[in-house]
Amino acid sequence: MEFNKILQQQKEYSLSLLQKDVARLRSEGRDIIDLSIGDPKDVTPDNLKKNLIREVENMTHSQYPVSGGDADYLNSVARWAKRIYNTNLDTKKHIFSCSGTKEAIYKMPMLLDWSNGKKIFIPSLSYPVYEESARVFNVPVVQLPISKESQFLPDLNSISEDIWKTCGLFWINSPHNPTTAIASKAYFEQLLSLAKRFDFLVCSDECYNDIYYTGQPTSCLEFDDSIQWIVFRSLSKRSQMTGLRVGVVISKNEVVMAHLKKMRSAMGVGTPTFIQKVAIPAWDDDISLKKSSEIYKQKRDILLPVLKEKGFQIFGADASFYLWFSHPKLPTSQALYDYFLDHDIVIAPGYAFGSDGEPYARMVYCETIETLEKAKEKISKFRPL
Ligand SMILES: Cc1ncc(COP(=O)(O)O)c(C=O)c1O
Repeated sequence: MEFNKILQQQKEYSLSLLQKDVARLRSEGRDIIDLSIGDPKDVTPDNLKKNLIREVENMTHSQYPVSGGDADYLNSVARWAKRIYNTNLDTKKHIFSCSGTKEAIYKMPMLLDWSNGKKIFIPSLSYPVYEESARVFNVPVVQLPISKESQFLPDLNSISEDIWKTCGLFWINSPHNPTTAIASKAYFEQLLSLAKRFDFLVCSDECYNDIYYTGQPTSCLEFDDSIQWIVFRSLSKRSQMTGLRVGVVISKNEVVMAHLKKMRSAMGVGTPTFIQKVAIPAWDDDISLKKSSEIYKQKRDILLPVLKEKGFQIFGADASFYLWFSHPKLPTSQALYDYFLDHDIVIAPGYAFGSDGEPYARMVYCETIETLEKAKEKISKFRPL
């Protein structure tokens, strides 16, 4: 049997490797605190569990979910978009459900024709799925450098016209994983106008858009009259529902959506109906969402001061549940990783997110308060560097 050569060449998912480290160290008896993975550890709320049980009990017979989502789920998304962004979405044309945004993001390269030499533009530090999927679908990638100097966003002005002409699809993730950078409204305006001029699709991964501590980060949903964007919104992080695999894809570009729907209908990626039903209150409940950001802020503030006290330089930290940092005396991301590991804390080294990950590392604070207090205790005992 001959296997797909691209898959054979693919390295193991960088964040899964860290999980293996955690499992190995724990099996060696070490009391490891894992602050490497963005999977919220809060206890699942009782009302969510009750709703799940009710929906399962009400199920008279199990049926395939409708590809693209049920009307009541899509309506809840349209209500939310109207309330928060004052945008009108047609549930039949502009929205469909996805089983977590990761699967929808991964499949995006299948949508376009790449025989014309177009490429996928990706920030040089990114959620690894953008690049992995481009490689699997054999689409060339342009890595856009990002750095402290560019506020951890690609510098749109540094890209020449000739390069823009090769862009088919542009990934933007704001608030950004791993750096927490937030693109301004002016940045999005410029990007969308470039997209119109050079005919490419802006894929806006807004996974962390609802977790913020200063104003709500700009969303493409604010650009009502643009058809250059497609937005991915996840309930995983904002509503602590990673295990339920539910999110949504939105675009006002009806041609893009019609093609995507056609593509996805054969894939069997419909979100189970009972999951959609329990997700509706999450879209409707702005109060719990606000509270969720307040709790994340409280968690951030457990770790932020002690890290600063120990000489770590923290960037951003105004949104999402990540801390992106460096230390003048730990000059590589491996050195940061090793240093924390010496103290039984696993973090994600910057290189796990791409070529511009040096000399940084990412720490999550979506663990329980108890675990974060324990981490704080360990960090407060770090020897002077
Ligand atoms: C930037 C970003 N986008 C998308 C996802 C996928 O989230 P989900 O598939 O749970 O919706 C993640 C998960 O870590 C992420 O960090």
